[in-house]
Amino acid sequence: MGLLPKLSTGNTSIGLDIGSSAIKLVQLQDTKNGVALYKAGSAPTPRESVKGGVVVDPLAVAKAIESLLEALQVESGTVTAGVAGPTVVVREVPLPVMSDRQLRKSIQWEARNYISFPVEDSIVEFEVLERPPAGEASQMRVMLVAAPRDMVDSQVEAVELAGLDPAAVEIQPFAMMRGILATDGMATEEGDTTAVLGIGAAYTDITIMKDGMFVLSRMIPIAGDAFTEAIKNALDVDTEEATQLKETAMQVVSSEEERATLDPAAQQASRAIEPLLDELIREVRRSLAYHDYQQQAPDAGAGDLGVSRILLAGGSAKLPRVHEYFQAQLGVPVEIVSVFGNGHLQAQGVNQEYLRSHAPTLLVGAGLALRELRSAKQRRGEVAEKAQ
Ligand SMILES: Nc1ncnc2c1ncn2[C@@H]1O[C@H](COP(=O)(O)OP(=O)(O)OP(=O)(O)O)[C@@H](O)[C@H]1O
Ligand SMILES: [Mg+2]
Repeated sequence: MGLLPKLSTGNTSIGLDIGSSAIKLVQLQDTKNGVALYKAGSAPTPRESVKGGVVVDPLAVAKAIESLLEALQVESGTVTAGVAGPTVVVREVPLPVMSDRQLRKSIQWEARNYISFPVEDSIVEFEVLERPPAGEASQMRVMLVAAPRDMVDSQVEAVELAGLDPAAVEIQPFAMMRGILATDGMATEEGDTTAVLGIGAAYTDITIMKDGMFVLSRMIPIAGDAFTEAIKNALDVDTEEATQLKETAMQVVSSEEERATLDPAAQQASRAIEPLLDELIREVRRSLAYHDYQQQAPDAGAGDLGVSRILLAGGSAKLPRVHEYFQAQLGVPVEIVSVFGNGHLQAQGVNQEYLRSHAPTLLVGAGLALRELRSAKQRRGEVAEKAQ
């Protein structure tokens, strides 16, 4: 597309994470010393403009993106966006052994068994993970990915209306994984099983990876919105006040003595969200148990969850001490994700104060941005190879 090469943005790439609560932008730059964070910022998503992962008001979202671009002084660039939501499917499925050509022809039909959405209105992709040699087994392992077409199109529309150049739309769990794998040495170690919990506003997504490979992903409809709603009802305040209280004054506590140290409103708020945190933890446990069953981990006995650790991301991971609460309940090390600084993605030029408080929300954006940066690098490598 276009006759002139994009000289100014050739070595940068933008990841845009359009959530129901906030739009997060991460621009990465490929430097001779490695990948560096070039720009990062976020803006509130206009009310009711993103629902169930679909940008229902692309114009309003595009305006918010434009303001964000202006504030960050980002002129143009290639953007990778990410979709997530209850209608997005990403799962490993067993299918009869067949060639890629046969699979391409029949995938729409096969996908019907796994997606809740009409397959005609979906974008369906696949990757063969393991194809047994002929005659050895009748089934092969395939990664199936599907998303409603209007969900993907709505993201592209918002990006284009904001004057940016959409390069790809991928599913958020893969972006999260890429972000972790690029910055966290432990996740690529053999034998490591990491669960990443993105606690956003409408949803919490749990993605489990083993030896740096995707295993499973699930959405749980309990996150920041539900916490705000519980606080609103318990304290009889409006949404704005409940959000304010949640984001600035409260913390998660692990005992009544600890709760007593908070001011009265924060005490009430922390009490109000506890049943939701416990419900979320039950759902996480269910996913971990399903993972163990699926993997049939030989050492996954009672109480042994099979995952080595849990990383928390998303805006609601900023609730003070939430990781300690999860760790105490689940009995596995729980940390807040950290992708910038400390030997990870270098971030000298970026406002450190902003990064300190927003880092957990930028994981998806960073992973999305890495996708095109990687492919730009690969493309350069390919060109160099051909030239030799
Ligand atoms: N300091 C804080 N303490 C607690 N919660 C916070 C804090 N800061 C932000 N949040 C909450 O984080 C949520 C927004 O996080 P995030 O940007 O990850 O969500 P999103 O991607 O827009 O949502 P989704 O992916 O679910 O559509 C909101 O519910 C917000 O209230
Ligand atoms: Mg999100």
